[in-house]
Amino acid sequence: MNPQPTNAYIDIQEVAHSFVKAGGQGALPVLQATSLSIRKGELISFIGPSGCGKSTLLNVMGGLLRPQSGTVLLEGKAIHAPSPQRVAYVFQENALFPWNTVMENITVALTFQNIPQNEQKERATQALSDVGMLAFAQHYPDEISGGMKQRVALARALSLETDIILMDEPFAALDEQTRMVLGEDLSILLSKTQKTIVLVTHSLGEAVFLSDRVAVFSARPGTIKEIIEVHEDHPRQSDFVTSEKFNNLRNQLYSLLHEEVKKTIKNEVHIKP
Ligand SMILES: Nc1ncnc2c1ncn2[C@@H]1O[C@H](COP(=O)(O)OP(=O)(O)O)[C@@H](O)[C@H]1O
Ligand SMILES: [Mg+2]
Repeated sequence: MNPQPTNAYIDIQEVAHSFVKAGGQGALPVLQATSLSIRKGELISFIGPSGCGKSTLLNVMGGLLRPQSGTVLLEGKAIHAPSPQRVAYVFQENALFPWNTVMENITVALTFQNIPQNEQKERATQALSDVGMLAFAQHYPDEISGGMKQRVALARALSLETDIILMDEPFAALDEQTRMVLGEDLSILLSKTQKTIVLVTHSLGEAVFLSDRVAVFSARPGTIKEIIEVHEDHPRQSDFVTSEKFNNLRNQLYSLLHEEVKKTIKNEVHIKP
């Protein structure tokens, strides 16, 4: 299919993908034709059963994976390769270099992007300050907690000053309290920027708390089953979490997901009656 003209900021058009199984034993379809228009400045979450193709779609959006069919357009132009000037990534595994300090982990990333040295320190200092980690600039990754490492990974993404950040389960390895505080800080931080964020998460609460919209995926081969809108100003306050609105949205997501997760697990586990 040829890309269709579009006014969307990011336009996912009929993207579908299968992986070749190990040993060349046929293909595993992971993503059915999926379309989605993303607005500039919004935070949209992808939520869905494990293995339904969320990371695959994120990788297509980042230009890291060429889909078997379909296209992703960024401001009308097809994405064929990574574009580090425009798109930054934050992964679950924070991928900090253990031999570099927190500060160096950021300046090294800026060196890769050919940012002049005098600007590197300035950007890194600002980004570390934004995530509350400036006091730890001279620490090594081994000397800070998991939550702090993810803050540094976020600072690194912010320092690249891209318009788009793709986040693949950035808080998944953290305990619930740490995620909660990080989520609140992220909401404050993002309300000050015009960045467009795509967040893959397993957490229903996190999706509702942070997102403008939540795209719920079906079981593999996945596609977007429904999109839930969260009409709530940013930054979100902690009393939003205890509100009826929050709980209704969370419950709505739970029902949508439950069906899909059951399908996924039924295909993997069999309990004999
Ligand atoms: N490079 C790859 N080669 C083969 N199979 C893959 C590859 N990457 C992912 N898969 C498979 O594709 C499916 C979807 O993966 P993924 O997009 O990572 O799911 P999700 O992020 O929704 O959990 C999974 O079953 C996974 O094992
Ligand atoms: Mg994934």
